Amino acid sequence: MPRQFQHIGTRTLAYLDTAPGESARRTCVLLHAFPLSAAMWEPQLQSVPEGWRFIAPDLRGFGGSSETDPADGDSVDEFSSDIVSLLAELGINETVIGGLSMGGYVTMGILRRAPHLASALIFADTRLGADSPEGRANRRSMIALVDREGPSGIAREMMPKLLGKTTRETNPQVEPVVRHLINRQSPLAIRGGLVRMMNRPDSSPLLATTTVPTLVIVGEEDEITPPAESQRIADGISGATLVVIPKTGHLSSLESPDAFSQALASFLGGL
Ligand code: MLT
Repeated sequence: MPRQFQHIGTRTLAYLDTAPGESARRTCVLLHAFPLSAAMWEPQLQSVPEGWRFIAPDLRGFGGSSETDPADGDSVDEFSSDIVSLLAELGINETVIGGLSMGGYVTMGILRRAPHLASALIFADTRLGADSPEGRANRRSMIALVDREGPSGIAREMMPKLLGKTTRETNPQVEPVVRHLINRQSPLAIRGGLVRMMNRPDSSPLLATTTVPTLVIVGEEDEITPPAESQRIADGISGATLVVIPKTGHLSSLESPDAFSQALASFLGGL
């Protein structure tokens, strides 16, 4: 699927769009994990339910989107404001919106900035809380690692946790796909993602104000954002649906694409 491009200020945001310009369809925006790109949503973009249009942006610096050096104090909310601007440019006033892991953090930033945009929410393999002091120290080591070794060092470091045990043992074709996606990202994008995630605020206060239909999905073997984190999101949002995908790790949409797409289709079908 060819990427589409939109100017946002002095930068360009790239996105995958299953039905460009078809404004009559209902839209669902899917935000990718770190350190990947919109391409991770390929399986979901191939199985869009009837009447829907899926849009998967590349967050600033990732995939085909341009980047500038992250400023001190930048947080995921910079990614969120890009998405708010993209939706305004596309004439989309209301949409289902969600993301996996970092994409979930960015969704929470959208709820802080422009809650009226979300008609329903999807939180996959993500968490509400900000980084702990240990988590921030780990981000700093990862920044040093990407400066020293580039994306391949990050892929080596993260791979054992990105994929679940069952996928690593029984589904060996997933790892090269993920490694390839990571290796295609620029060191600047990876550094930008780490800085912005490290500075993200605690999103727990959003729970009390979130009233739209919400789907929470998590891989049973997710080690980065374990199922208890998803349970906490689902418990906090009235009427939220929690789907735990068995034998699946952190990258649930790639490891178990059919189960993930089914959960998504059934949620969208009920809206
Ligand atoms: C992700 O998958 O987006 C990241 O692992 C999230 C994180 O590092 O907090």
